[in-house]
Amino acid sequence: MKITAAAAAALVLITTGCSQKTPVVKSPDGRIEFNLSRTDSALTYSVKIDGKDFILPSLLGFDAEGLTPAPDAEMTLAFDRADTVWHQPWGENKEIRDHYNEMAMTLADSVLTMTVRVRVFDDVYAFRYEWDAAGRDSVTVMDELTQFAFAEPATSWSIPANFDSYEMEYRELPVDSVINANTPFTFVTDSTKVFGSIHEAALYDFPEMTLLADSAASRTMRANLAPMPDGVKAVTPAKFVTPWRTMQIGHKATDLINSAMILNLNEPCKLADVSWIKPQKYVGIWWGMHLGTQVWTVGPRHGATTENAIKYIDFAAANDIQGVLFEGWNEGWENWGGNQHFDYIKAASDFDIDSVASYAKAKGIELWAHNETGGNIPEYEAALDSAFAYYQSLGIHTVKTGYAGGFKGGYYHHSQYGVRHYQKVVETAARYQLMIDAHEPIKETGIRRTWPNMMTREGARGMEWNAWSAGNSADYLCILPFARLLSGPMDYTPGIFDINYKRAKADPGRIEWNGPNGECCIKTTIARQIANWVIIYSPLQMAADQIENYEGQPGFQFFRDFNADCDWSEALQGEIGKYIAVVRRAGDRYFLGAGTNSEARTLEVPLTFLDKDTVYTAAIYADDVKTNNPENLIITTREVTSADTLTIDMAATGGQAVTFIPKE
Ligand code: NOJ
Ligand code: CA
Repeated sequence: MKITAAAAAALVLITTGCSQKTPVVKSPDGRIEFNLSRTDSALTYSVKIDGKDFILPSLLGFDAEGLTPAPDAEMTLAFDRADTVWHQPWGENKEIRDHYNEMAMTLADSVLTMTVRVRVFDDVYAFRYEWDAAGRDSVTVMDELTQFAFAEPATSWSIPANFDSYEMEYRELPVDSVINANTPFTFVTDSTKVFGSIHEAALYDFPEMTLLADSAASRTMRANLAPMPDGVKAVTPAKFVTPWRTMQIGHKATDLINSAMILNLNEPCKLADVSWIKPQKYVGIWWGMHLGTQVWTVGPRHGATTENAIKYIDFAAANDIQGVLFEGWNEGWENWGGNQHFDYIKAASDFDIDSVASYAKAKGIELWAHNETGGNIPEYEAALDSAFAYYQSLGIHTVKTGYAGGFKGGYYHHSQYGVRHYQKVVETAARYQLMIDAHEPIKETGIRRTWPNMMTREGARGMEWNAWSAGNSADYLCILPFARLLSGPMDYTPGIFDINYKRAKADPGRIEWNGPNGECCIKTTIARQIANWVIIYSPLQMAADQIENYEGQPGFQFFRDFNADCDWSEALQGEIGKYIAVVRRAGDRYFLGAGTNSEARTLEVPLTFLDKDTVYTAAIYADDVKTNNPENLIITTREVTSADTLTIDMAATGGQAVTFIPKE
């Protein structure tokens, strides 16, 4: 049975508290027009942009047992608008404008009230479903009917739908060739050149939404929710609000990045005290394990030993880095991939956690905890409170979680079960003043506004793939900002300087993962590795290489000068899959990162974003475009002002990073 279908024909249109009688709402600038429509068989929506069809009539609603408004259900329309400015403790931009027009269509009978709430901003439209099935204990959702019927052909960039992982390669495909996809699903229409991206906001207690082609070679996609093992998509309380279904709109590719839509569609912060939430730079014992020269388990190659921890803490303290992560600090790693039993409290026998914690404290360095779960949710949930209380007692404020392994009981990572779990971790962490960096996460949907301890997450192919697979191409890195990164911060773990793994290759005992790793390397120049610290926004930003590879490297000055706690950001230039240039400001410093795909490229970047009355020293970390040797980094400095234009020459797979520091 469908929520919307049965109700449509016999309903009477009644307007309340407002003179508008037609279910139409436009963006504040008038360019986006969203229409709701009732026919005999269905409730549908359609969208025009600049007067041209963008989305053709597309179904709304659910197949949800017992959720069918009676034929005589009353229909009301309500309209609202908002134009406010709000602030967040951290983010790409700390100040955000929330400006939209809203329409809510409600169908109500004696047992069910169902509302479709629509918000139209200048750069996004979004709608969600709200239901109140009075007299019922719960609602069982079998399927979502929401469609996205593209009015014209479009070219898209997406990863395939998969209910357990987002660690996939992007495909560039005509929309009518996409069989299924995950979101953010980014596209540009072929003739009107509208840039767009389909995603969702405020995902709580509901499965994630993927997209499925309605039929072969169709330009109509529909929502496909991650199921539970019994095939049910969700069981919700009788009164429930779904996540927003969002459609970003841009008139150029960078408009998609320069949008705060995902945060505006989330609720304000729920934490009374956020003083313990601090963006930071970090290093860690991590890359050696992925390269296979160190291991997570105790033994001669164990990475997280007390001795190594002290070295990393010293390095962090000497290089203006605030945090340190030690993967393999705890017991249980021999069970990874087996029974997935990890101990979240007991330290490995060669890791003296008390002395490491007090050494870190004495040096003013933040010690992180790492919780690999292997997907063993029942055991992790049982340990959560005691483990988090213990970390708090050690002065720890950050936990990196990991879910590298299938969930028990046949549950998908991205099902309602998974979404509930990830949220439980965030809320429990908040009680113990812990920030979360989640790997193998549920997708980012902007909940960091409401739970600002949900700092960053993986949720795409990160650096690790370069250690033991064909790796991430420069082309991939030029799609990421226009797709995955639209949803929010990513812990990509950037910044490998030993791009050809000379140190690892010199180690005869290196353990190779997933077949021979001899040919694995970083597929970009070093300058691009540095630029990624700016391009790939994360409030917890890692210098991911082993610290030995930074010692004596002039290029590491960039990370020393960098500040992960940025105030303002703007994507300056970019084309999807081709290149990107981003600038961020933190305090009085600016950081610019630019990157290209497999083609060499020159960008002219006017520095109009700089403060008009300040002279800056620009430190430029550039490719060697004469030799095209990706290992060569050319560092120069010059004085600049906002009147200057920077010529950014990038080698194939290259990039450029610049710090602008006010001159004394
Ligand atoms: C996968 C994570 O992405 C990676 O960062 C981590 O090192 C391993 N799992 C082990 O937890
Ligand atoms: Ca991963």
